[in-house]
Amino acid sequence: MSVKPFNDNFLKACRGEEHSHVPVWYMRQAGRYQAEYRKIREKYSLFEITHNPEVCAEVTMLPIKQLDVDAAILFADIMTPMPAMGIDVEIKSSIGPVIRNPIRTHEDVENLRPLQPDEHVPYILDTITLLREQLSVPLIGFAGAPFTLASYLIEGGPSRNYYKTKSFMHSNSEAWHLLMDRLGSMTVAYLKAQIAAGSQAVQVFDSWVGALNAEDYAEFVAPVMNRIFTELNDTNVPKIMFGVGAGHLLQEWNRLPLDVIGLDWRTSIRFARAQGVTKTVQGNLDPGLLLASWPELQKKTKEILDQGMETPNYIFNLGHGVYPDVKADTLERLTAFIHEYSAK
Ligand code: CP3
Repeated sequence: MSVKPFNDNFLKACRGEEHSHVPVWYMRQAGRYQAEYRKIREKYSLFEITHNPEVCAEVTMLPIKQLDVDAAILFADIMTPMPAMGIDVEIKSSIGPVIRNPIRTHEDVENLRPLQPDEHVPYILDTITLLREQLSVPLIGFAGAPFTLASYLIEGGPSRNYYKTKSFMHSNSEAWHLLMDRLGSMTVAYLKAQIAAGSQAVQVFDSWVGALNAEDYAEFVAPVMNRIFTELNDTNVPKIMFGVGAGHLLQEWNRLPLDVIGLDWRTSIRFARAQGVTKTVQGNLDPGLLLASWPELQKKTKEILDQGMETPNYIFNLGHGVYPDVKADTLERLTAFIHEYSAK
């Protein structure tokens, strides 16, 4: 059982309710920048960590203990549920997910199997149960969004320009929509199971969707995103959306039935508000600044906090994940500064 009183600043900010300080957590807050994580990785692969609830809960807890952040995020990967659907994926160090059987045809899409979370990812649900016994901050569950997952499945790995994905989408639109449908069903089933197991918020990572223009987003992606968030509505947990380089999609995102929009560092909070974003905003320090001097980092953090604190519905985060070169001490100092600067 947790000894500390439950810290609900993050959940209150998601809902736009009054709270005592700006909540903060960091994308990729558990990872290679931590000596403790690197030590665990000497013994276990990423796959082994996620399949072992005790170890996975321990890794998820590392930043909570070390940094004093206001939310935990389940330690897993957006590709974790893919093998159950029939995708042969390996996560290669410093590269990312690599697929041995990329999707090429309508038939490949038809062959994707539905995810049954209790049967296929029980270790994820067990990790969540364990975490809820230990945590005194909210636990964020997450899943990959259909476009970003499809980009890996079609390209076969990371990509610069997504031309295979885009050509599949435009020239094989029936198969594309079927793919969005299958991946969308996975996202809903996976997140519902995570919520039933105890996740108190969910984040959908559409990291690479900024590669599309707003018109293509509206036609090829928005319908499935609408379906995902609508089907999650009855769960009553805050729903967060995140993508990189997606400032031009803000108005599309603001129309979706979700609660929080995550911004990368290219899109300022004031710009998002000027675009009509009324939902809670999360972000958006350039993670590169974590490697700059403390005065510079502090100055930029203040600027972001001053913008975010213009409304109560704001959560501090990075514009993308922590790099392995970042020092844990920097994140610890930054978290303390954000708490102190924003305290009411
Ligand atoms: O602490 C957390 O944020 C939770 C853990 C988490 C991981 N992946 C663990 C991981 C989360 C939320 C993800 C999501 C994820 N995975 C995304 C969306 C977020 C984003 O960064 O845009 C994407 C696109 C992936 C795909 C993926 N998996 C990439 C690009 C990489 C990095 C490859 C590398 O080594 O640089 C991975 C591997 C991965 N996922 C690692 C971790 C901790 C590194 C594995 C290791 O070497 O320990």
